[in-house]
Amino acid sequence: MTAQKKSEYAVPKLKDFSAKALDAAAKKLLAALEKEAAAVSNEAEWKVFRDRWIARTNGILTQINDQWLKVAPKEAKRDAGQKVNELKAKVTGTVEGCEKKEIKVAVTAPAKIRDSLSHQPQPVSGTLDITLPGTRRPLGAEHPVIKTMNEIVGVFRNLGYSVEEGPEIETDYYNFEALNFPPNHPARDTQDTLFIAGQENKPLRERLLLRTHTSPVQIRTMEKMKPPVRVVCPGKVHRNDAPDATHSPIFHQVEGLAVDTNITFCDLKGTIDHAMKALFGSSVKTRFYPSFFPFTEPSADVQISCIFCGGKGYRDGARCPNCKASGWIELLGCGMVDPNVFSFVDYDPKKYSGFAFGMGVERIAILKYGVDDIQLFFNGDVRFLEQFG
Ligand code: PHE
Repeated sequence: MTAQKKSEYAVPKLKDFSAKALDAAAKKLLAALEKEAAAVSNEAEWKVFRDRWIARTNGILTQINDQWLKVAPKEAKRDAGQKVNELKAKVTGTVEGCEKKEIKVAVTAPAKIRDSLSHQPQPVSGTLDITLPGTRRPLGAEHPVIKTMNEIVGVFRNLGYSVEEGPEIETDYYNFEALNFPPNHPARDTQDTLFIAGQENKPLRERLLLRTHTSPVQIRTMEKMKPPVRVVCPGKVHRNDAPDATHSPIFHQVEGLAVDTNITFCDLKGTIDHAMKALFGSSVKTRFYPSFFPFTEPSADVQISCIFCGGKGYRDGARCPNCKASGWIELLGCGMVDPNVFSFVDYDPKKYSGFAFGMGVERIAILKYGVDDIQLFFNGDVRFLEQFG
């Protein structure tokens, strides 16, 4: 007996299109669907069941479309449309689910049952082989880059910072100009930029590019809030770098910005030193090395004492390869916000001062987990990724 013969359900023509009447009609239809789905026990029955419900010509779904939706009066169209869509999803879901059930039960019977049925092994529909192993659903692991990014953000959240995000496709204005990189300034060359093509007739500041750092979020944040500001901005950045063991055209940064009255370089040093100890352990030391960024003045690169050789430069009687025997590893850029930047966002540089910093997430993850090739983060090899569960 097929599923079709078992059921008496037929799509009724509706006279009343009120939400209540639609609900009642839908309920009846779903009850019939369930009953028929439960009765399906082999492939041939499933095919009949499928055609009865979802065949394009005159399947039940086509019928409700024609008889419940198309003919509904104007004011009921919305409700009827919603209901019909809901039913479509449920019906196709049930039909597909039923097919899966079909495949699972049509397995070969265990040897003993088989032999008792016939001398020839034969598939027995409807028998479940409980000797087969179960379906394993391995747990996924947080990606090491995201894990590290969350950890960095967590350190600053504990200090009272909030989180801001900005777009990955930026304008030249936010990525460069408002950060005090004037047009044609050589500092732009240090960040090999990927521009969106075909924008030559736009003014430079409006041209779109893939942001080369998270620093544009500093500007976006200061445009929308007044001091005191304490934010971290995690995100993806892009540079036109050829991939190798230490470079990737896509990587991640966490930016930080604090602006208030009386913020000094001491606050910057204390904050960064605390963050590095929180990330790498309390015995880590930090050192600030003069550097240059157009949007900070003075600027510094921060180095931490080498976590592999304890800052000695030598390990097991040999030069430490991680710090090239220097005892220090360079980790991030920072500085006091340049007063010129404040003038782009209408902050009074006489009243306010601030510091900013930016760190590469992959670089920190590489050090924390002893990874020797940045490409491993992006290749998607589960044998690598599952180690971070
Ligand atoms: N944006 C800089 C870079 O990507 C890092 C930086 C951020 C430096 C904030 C100073 C202050 O190289």
